This record gives sequence, C-alpha cells and structure tokens, in this order.
Amino acid sequence: MHEPLRLGIAGLGTVGASVVRLLQGHGDALASQLGRPVHVVAASARDEGRDRGLSMLDIAWHDDPVGLARSTTIDVLVELIGGADGAAHASVRAALNAGKSVVTANKALLAAHGVELARLAEERGAQLAFEAAVGGGIPIIKTLREALAGNRLTRLYGILNGTCNFILTRMEQGMAYPAALAEAQALGYAEADPSFDVEGLDTAHKLAILTSVAFGTEIDRDAIFVEGISGIEPEDIAAADELGYRIKLLGVAQRTESGIEQRVHPTMVPRDSDIARVSGVTNAVAVEGDFIGSVMLSGPGAGGNATASAVVGDIIDLARGVRVPPLGRPAASLQPYRQARIQAHEGGYYLRLKVRDRPGAFAAIANRMAEAGISLDSIVQRNRPPGTAPKHGTEVLQPVTIITHSTTEQAVRSALGKIEAEGEIFGRAQMIRIEAL
Ligand code: NDP
Ligand code: HSE
Repeated sequence: MHEPLRLGIAGLGTVGASVVRLLQGHGDALASQLGRPVHVVAASARDEGRDRGLSMLDIAWHDDPVGLARSTTIDVLVELIGGADGAAHASVRAALNAGKSVVTANKALLAAHGVELARLAEERGAQLAFEAAVGGGIPIIKTLREALAGNRLTRLYGILNGTCNFILTRMEQGMAYPAALAEAQALGYAEADPSFDVEGLDTAHKLAILTSVAFGTEIDRDAIFVEGISGIEPEDIAAADELGYRIKLLGVAQRTESGIEQRVHPTMVPRDSDIARVSGVTNAVAVEGDFIGSVMLSGPGAGGNATASAVVGDIIDLARGVRVPPLGRPAASLQPYRQARIQAHEGGYYLRLKVRDRPGAFAAIANRMAEAGISLDSIVQRNRPPGTAPKHGTEVLQPVTIITHSTTEQAVRSALGKIEAEGEIFGRAQMIRIEAL
C-alpha cells in the first residue's frame, strides 16, 4: 500500500457532507482499488458545533479555510464552500500557491477566476479539478477535455441548471412557479441565492466553463447573453405543448462566422427531441463535433450525492497521479474569446401577444413582420370560451401566438418594437427562441 492521500475539506454543507460520507463509506474499497488510502484529515466550515450527521473523529478542525489550505497535514484541498470570491477564492489560491492540488465544485469561482487559477496551478505543478462544477454528477468536463478532444466541436447545448428544469417540469404538471421553486430549495438543489438559478446566472457560469474547455477560449462569463425563466407564464407552457414543443432553459455555445455565440435563455425544443425528454432535476449536455456527430450525456445535475460522485472521481484521479491541463490545454494557449452578437442570432421564434380586439390589428402585425423580412410558420388566435378573453379595463385582448421561420434576432426585435409602439398589442410581447435540433 502506498502513502495515503490526505484531504482537507473546506465546506461541509450539502455537497461537503456527502463527500465525507462517500469517502468514509467506500474507504476500504477505494483503498484497494487505488492501492492507497484516501483520508479526510482536516475540515473547515463556519460552525464547528453544527451536527452534520458525520463522524468527525480523526478530522482536525480549522476555523479558517485559508489556514486549512496552507496546512502541511493535507495534500489536496477540496473546496466546497461556494461563491466567486471570499473564502473560496482565497483558500483555493492559498492551496495552489503552496503547490497543493485542488478539487472544487464551484462554478461561480471558475467562471470568474478559472483562467487565473489554471495558470497558477500550472506554474506550481498542481492540479485543479472541477468535474462537479458543471452538470452535477455528469462527467462532461472529462468527456470534453479527454474523450472528445480529437474533434473540432461546432455546438454544445444543455440543460445545466437542475432547479430551473425542476421548476419548468413542475409547471408542466400544473404547479405554480413559487411552489415549484420552494420544493427545489427544500430538496437542496437551489443556490443559496436562488435568483442565480432562475435568472440564468448559474447556467451562464457553467456554460462559460464548458465553452472554454470545448472551444479552447478564455472563460468570459460576462460575454454571455442571459435570460432566466422567471418571465415564463403558464400560457407559454400550454402553448408550447399545443405547438409540439417543450420549454427548457438551455445554455448554448456555437461556432458562427463572427465568433462563438454563447447564450442562456428559455428555449422551445421539439417535444420529440432527446433534450425535451429530460425532466426534473436531471441535466443533459449535447455536444456536436466533426467526427463524433452528436452525443448527449444526461444525469443528476444537482444534489449532494450526485455531486459528491463527481468530486470523488476527481479525487481518485489525483490519487492515481493523473495530470491534465485544467482547461484542456495550457492556459497560455487559450484564445481570447470573440463574442458573437445576439442580434445576429438566427433561428425560429415563438411570440405571444395580447392583441387589441379592433379591426386591422392582425393585419398590422402581419405587415410589420413582413416588412422586417420575417416569414411566419403559424399565427394562431388561441380559442377561449366566450367571455374569458383577457381584458385591460373595458378593452378585450386576444391572445395570439406566432411561430416564425428562421430569421434574425434583429428582425424580430425591430418588428416587435414597431408593433408595440403602434399600440396594436397590450404590454410587451413574450419572445422565446426556438432551437433547431
Ligand atoms: P452549502 O451552502 O450547503 O454549504 C456551504 C458550506 O460552506 C457550509 O458547510 C458552510 O459552513 C461553509 N462555509 C460557508 N462560508 C464559509 C467560510 N467563510 N469559511 C468556511 N466555511 C464556510 O453549499 P453546497 O454544498 O450546496 O455547495 C457547495 C459548492 O458546490 C458550491 O460551489 C455549489 O455551487 C456547488 N455545487 C452544489 C450543488 C448542489 O446540488 N448543492 C451541485 C453542484 C455544485 P456551515 O455549514 O457551518 O454554515
Ligand atoms: N443550483 C444548481 C442547480 C446546483 O440547480 O443545478 C448545481 O450546480
């Protein structure tokens, strides 16, 4: 038996506690598989007195995660605190500076500082592993960095936030948005601040990391077009169903002539597509490349145990001495990220309008679309029983849904801008992009 690998775990919450339980429960099996034991020798969290349902015997306590990172009693820091800055960033930097490898599940940290940390790890001869940061238990980082590395990738898209997919699935089952969010929080899926989930930022952080590993570009979380799911109404869920679609919060990165387009938004996907069938907290990532064609991985995207599975996979790599550049190539050779503009995005669009019930309104809308060069696939005035159409004061509003053929974002926004300004519709139009799959 070789020397033990000594771990210091910073953060003993949902994920940290599951990692300790996994390592304690499977300790003997892992030791015989790896030819060396893996021991949690030290830990840090905010509250030493909290009962975490764990045996903390033989685990030294550190109030300060930076002190833990620097401790000579550990070989590897496992950072499971969370957050882009503060204790997470400081402890990861301290460990790498001391030449210790780091395993983290922290996408916010990597989206903000991933390139800097990868460079630091390379300079200090340490490893920085983050499989759990994207897609929970799904091994998407290894798949992109290793298994698919021979391909020239053209597009990747995925359901990267379990909380949003859970909420959208529950809404399809008739549950109201606030109740669905509360359930996701109770199940431990949501971030400490759930607006990160529902406003699409968590997905954007994960997409920024995937884009870097897939396309060899520097991470740029601020260059992503982001729209969350909080504006999705039950009417959109019902209309999607009638039209043969489902609504998913997708993160998409795609090569275009003008650069790499990165976008996060609610998306209509054909109901019979593989990604449409991904329900609940499950995540999925589809990758398209020149030799592989298309491949999709799906699995549990959040929750303590699934995430611990990915964290421990990284720990096992370290115990075996696996060495890879964190972002799939030396940090110095990552290309600056060249952002494609969302206005140039091409695709189909779903539009839902509350049209004023007056002569010529329908024709005016169709004309504005035609002037912008938009070809309509369907325009449907949704039937409601007499007397149940929505009203604004005494005015009757007719709910109309439009599906366009492929067009540009610029054309759709320009037509909608004119339609709104002319007062043919009440309020803002709902606009959901359709992804060609
Ligand atoms: P939790 O909020 O459940 O746990 C955070 C832990 O960090 C707690 O133990 C907390 O201590 C500790 N902590 C907070 N601040 C400090 C500090 N300043 N010093 C020391 N310890 C501190 O988070 P999760 O376990 O859910 O998430 C951890 C990481 O994993 C995050 O980066 C998250 O994004 C990521 N992740 C989470 C998933 C999930 O499903 N939950 C899935 C995939 C990734 P105390 O317990 O004493 O309060
Ligand atoms: N809040 C995240 C989610 C956790 O819901 O997917 C996993 O990163």
